[in-house]
Amino acid sequence: MRLFAIFSVVVVAISGVVSTPVEIDLTSILGTNLASSNSYGAPLAPWKYGSVPGWYYGNYPERHRNIRCLKGWICKFLSWFPWLVQCPKPPHIPPPTSDGYTQTFANLTGATQAGDYMTYGLVDTIKDCKTMCNSVAGCKFANSYHDVNGKDGSTQLTCSLFATCHTASDATNTGGQTQPDGSIDYITSSDGWCKD
Ligand SMILES: *[C@@H]1O[C@H](CO)[C@@H](O)[C@H](O)[C@H]1NC(C)=O
Repeated sequence: MRLFAIFSVVVVAISGVVSTPVEIDLTSILGTNLASSNSYGAPLAPWKYGSVPGWYYGNYPERHRNIRCLKGWICKFLSWFPWLVQCPKPPHIPPPTSDGYTQTFANLTGATQAGDYMTYGLVDTIKDCKTMCNSVAGCKFANSYHDVNGKDGSTQLTCSLFATCHTASDATNTGGQTQPDGSIDYITSSDGWCKD
């Protein structure tokens, strides 16, 4: 039933009869607007009050039912719409000794806050955060960190992506936002990864 509904919308989209409502239809299918023009589902940067991750790239979708998980059938669907966030593709060759990133800071209690913010989401590992940066066009910098008490209490890593590299001097978001449950968030294990 669900697949048929999706198929119908895609047919409408491809037929090109209606051009503007396409994004609205995609938004209703995906539950959120995952277009690059909408910071891939996270228009509010992580240091803004009330922001939510745009996507989750990891193996525990049941922990994040309200966030679009970039695994499974949805990946094929997203690939038809290149302006939406894309699932990382598994590497065809074993990765070389270098993963293509140089660490610019490690284990800070502040997350990167900068104007070239692109998008952010949740991941299971630092490696997954770099993989997401590789799949977002123009991404040069990945900042992985734990937002303790933040992001609906998720224990996953937050993965924030930027268009240029940053050093410790921009790791100025130290949390301090009061959460819906009254707790206050803080940042740990913040690492910066600059794409070579
Ligand atoms: C990271 O920093 C915290 C203190 O902020 C420290 O307790 C912990 O041992 C550090 N971890 C590593 C891997 O250096």
